[in-house]
Amino acid sequence: MIKFIEKPQSAALAFMVAGAVWFVVGALYGMVSAIHLVSPEFFSNIPWLVFGRERPIHVNTMLYGFVGTMLIGCGLYYMPALLRTRLWSEPLAWTGFFLWNLTVASGPLCFSFGYTQGREYSEYVWLADVSLMLSVVCIICNLVMTIVNRAEQQLYVSVWYFMAAFLWTAGNYPLGNVMWHPATGAMPGLIDSLFLWFWGHNLPGLLITPLATGAAYFVIPRATRTPLNSHTLSLVGFWMLVALYTHIGGHHVLQSPIPNWLKTVSVVDSVAMVIPVSIVVLNLWMTARGAGARVWGDPAARLVMGGIVWYIVTCIQGPLQSLPFLQRVTHFNNWTVGHAHIAMLGFGGYIALGAMWHIIPIVSGREIYSQKLVSLQFGLLTFGLTGFFLVLTAAGLIQGSAWHNGETVYRVLPELAPFMASRAALGIFILTGSLVGIFNLFMTLRHGRELEVRQLQRAEEAA
Ligand code: HEM
Ligand code: HEM
Repeated sequence: MIKFIEKPQSAALAFMVAGAVWFVVGALYGMVSAIHLVSPEFFSNIPWLVFGRERPIHVNTMLYGFVGTMLIGCGLYYMPALLRTRLWSEPLAWTGFFLWNLTVASGPLCFSFGYTQGREYSEYVWLADVSLMLSVVCIICNLVMTIVNRAEQQLYVSVWYFMAAFLWTAGNYPLGNVMWHPATGAMPGLIDSLFLWFWGHNLPGLLITPLATGAAYFVIPRATRTPLNSHTLSLVGFWMLVALYTHIGGHHVLQSPIPNWLKTVSVVDSVAMVIPVSIVVLNLWMTARGAGARVWGDPAARLVMGGIVWYIVTCIQGPLQSLPFLQRVTHFNNWTVGHAHIAMLGFGGYIALGAMWHIIPIVSGREIYSQKLVSLQFGLLTFGLTGFFLVLTAAGLIQGSAWHNGETVYRVLPELAPFMASRAALGIFILTGSLVGIFNLFMTLRHGRELEVRQLQRAEEAA
C-alpha cells in the first residue's frame, strides 16, 4: 500500500478514476430528480429520495465530484510534466485525494438524511467544509513545492490556471460558506445571499473555469502537435479573468434588493467577460488552425474542442442573461438550468473527459481499451446535452414570459410536462455516456494493451 501511494502519478490516476465514478453517481441522482419532475409520486414514501434531498446530491456530486475531481487529476499529471519535475509528494496528493472525496461522499451520505446547510452550492455541512479546505491546503503545498523544485523556468499558462484555482478556492470557499458560523454556515438576512452567491459564482468561475481552461491549454497544442498560438495572449486572458470574473457574483441576485452599485458592477463586468473568453477561444482555435482533421480524428481532443464550443455558447448566453431587462424573463426558471448544464457538462465536463482520455494512457501505461467507445461517449453526451439545452431553454422562456404577463406558477405547470418528460428521456443518453465512460476506463486499466517503454517515452515527450 505504502509503495502504491508513493508511485509517481498514482494520485492523479486516482482522482481521474474517482471523477468517472462520481459522474455515474451524479447522473443517477440527476435521472431520479428528472423523473420526479415528471411524476412527483414516483418514489413516494422514500424520505431519502425526495426531490429536495436528491437535487443537491446531484448538483454537488457533479460539480465537486465529477468535473472538479477529474480536472484535479488531470492537473496533478500536467503540472509536473510542464514543470519537468516530479510531483513534490505523492502521499500528500493522496491525503488531498481522501479529504476531497470524503467531502464529495458526504453529499449523498448527509443530504439524504437532511443534514445540509441548505444554501445552493454551499450545502456541505461544516465538517465536510473543513475536509475540503484541508484537501485544498494539501494540494496548494504540494504544488508550491513542485513549482519551487522545477527544472523548467517558464511557467506555461496551464500552471497559472491550476495553481490559481486552489489559491482562489482557499480564500473564497470559507467566505462564501460562512465557515466561521459552523452551526448554520450562513449570515442572517439578505446579506447572506451576497455571501452565498459570492461562492455560488466563484465555484464555476474561479474553480471550474480555471481548471478546465488550464486543461484545454494543455491538451490542444499537444493533440495538434502545434505550439500555442500566443503565450502573451494566454496570460492576458488569465489576468483579465482575474480582473473581471472575481466580483460579478451579484449577477445571480439582480432581482433582489442588493446595492445598486453592486448590480451595475456585476452587469458591466459580466458583459466585459466576452473579452477574456474570446481570447481563450481564439488562442486555442488559432493553435488548432489547419489541424482540424487531427482534432476530429482524436476522440480525446474532439471532446476538449467540443468543450470549447460549449464555452462559446455558455459565454454568449451568460452576458446576455446578466442584462436586467432580459433576466426579468429568464430568472428563477429552466432557462438558468439549461445554462448550468451547458456550462458544467458542456464546458467543464467535456474538457475534463477529453483531458482524462488524453492523459490516461500516459499515467496508466496502457492504451485506451476502445477509442470507438470514447467517440460513442462523445456522441451520447452531445445528443443528450444539445437536447437538454433546447428543451430547458424553451421551457424557461414559456415560464418566464407567462409569469411576466401575470400568470400564476401553478397554471404554467401543465405546459411544462412535455419538456420535463423530454429532459428525463434525454438524461438517459447522458447517463449511458457516463456508464460507457466508466466501462472503457476500467477495461483500459485492466485489459488495455500495455504500452512499450519507447511508446510511453514518446507519449510523455509529446505531453
Ligand atoms: C443524467 C443526466 C442529467 C439529468 C437527468 C439531470 C437532471 C437535473 C435536474 C432534474 C436538475 C434540477 C433542475 C430543477 O431544479 O429544476 C438538475 C440540476 C442541475 N444539474 Fe443536472 N442532470 C444531468 C446531468 C448533469 C451533469 C452531467 C451536470 C454537470 C456536470 C449537471 C449539473 C447540474 C447543475 C449545476 C444543476 C443546478 C442547476 C441550477 O440550479 O440552475 N447535471 N439536473
Ligand atoms: C461570460 C461568462 C458568464 C456569464 C456572464 C454568466 C452569467 C450568469 C448569470 C447572470 C447567471 C444567473 C442567471 C439567473 O439566475 O437568472 C448564471 C448562472 C449560472 N452560471 Fe453562468 N455565466 C457565465 C459563464 C459560466 C461558466 C463558464 C460556467 C461554468 C463553468 C457557468 C455556470 C453557471 C451556473 C452553474 C449557473 C446556475 C446558478 C444557479 O443555480 O442559479 N457560467 N450565469
